[in-house]
Amino acid sequence: MSALQSLETEILAAIGAAADESALDAVRVAALGKKGSISDLLKTLGGMTAAERKENGPLFNGVRDRVSEAIAQRKRALADLALDARLNLERVDVTLPARPLAQGTVHPISQVLDEVTAIFADLGFAVAEGPDVEYDDYNFTKLNIPPDHPARQMHDTFYLAPQADGARHVLRTHTSPVQVRTMLTQKPPIRVIAPGRTYRVDNDATHSPMFHQIEALVIDENTHLGHLKWVVEEFCKAFFEIESVELRGRPSFFPFTEPSVEWDLRCDRSVAGRIEFGRGNDWLELGGSGMVHPNVLAMCGVDASRYQGFAFGLGLDRLAMLKYGAPDLRPFFDGDLRWLKHFGFTAFDVPTLDAGLSR
Ligand code: DAH
Repeated sequence: MSALQSLETEILAAIGAAADESALDAVRVAALGKKGSISDLLKTLGGMTAAERKENGPLFNGVRDRVSEAIAQRKRALADLALDARLNLERVDVTLPARPLAQGTVHPISQVLDEVTAIFADLGFAVAEGPDVEYDDYNFTKLNIPPDHPARQMHDTFYLAPQADGARHVLRTHTSPVQVRTMLTQKPPIRVIAPGRTYRVDNDATHSPMFHQIEALVIDENTHLGHLKWVVEEFCKAFFEIESVELRGRPSFFPFTEPSVEWDLRCDRSVAGRIEFGRGNDWLELGGSGMVHPNVLAMCGVDASRYQGFAFGLGLDRLAMLKYGAPDLRPFFDGDLRWLKHFGFTAFDVPTLDAGLSR
């Protein structure tokens, strides 16, 4: 073997034996660095005759190229090895149980909102939204409550400062304006719920100036009161997590529905401080509902000769108070950490119908 060949073999062996990047770099410097063995060899070309150079040049350059390529290859291999080693070291055991966050809780209203949304999603309802600051027109007029209608007085409305044209926006007094927004932008069939904040000038143990409602709206060609009752019934069973419920419908009046029905749920209050649903001799008021008034359909661009449907509105805060046994509404919005710790839920209590709404 020529001296040149044994030099190449020696260097290639050193490259193969380099265990990490710095060892490899030392081999590179010793061969290709300024004073490296191959660099020294290349320098000797300068002192050769033209004929010698013609013979040796390609040989020397061949050695240099093969060594460079071998170093590059080894470098890639070492990087892969290093990555594998790191991945091995940093492996996460995904089977370990998650540790619940020690701090912070989900507010009961948020929890109840998620529960209600899961129930209605299962019944095929989409979620619709509207703003807290609403047009007077959507909050009242298009719901068949014209400017001088006495029903406006029942709403204890917060009015905003007048616009340039004199019109005043309101803090929405109910979630019903989302019905208007939905009908103005969607073609039937419509099946939506609209949960959200609502506002009225009112403040005592069971009323807060800011509270929450959930609205439901179904518009189709043959939708009738029977469907309405079934939906309310299914909702109550799922929400209160009981096998059967008994509903009582009372005739009522809302300008935006005709006929209008208020629903009561049979319950037992014979044990002080407790309420049980599905039996007993008491009735719990659930909320208002009815068949959407043809005037409302017409004002919202729905052909009332072809379509009809129902709507209802429930108080979310009341549902939360009933289900989780909070007697007073005011602390819901006080932000008292002791109350939040007691009534709050951990972030891992995500309500789903199959895993159980509340556990
Ligand atoms: N918006 C009514 C309220 O806040 C509740 C309500 C009654 C909503 C009847 C409805 C309905 O959709 O049909 O008092």
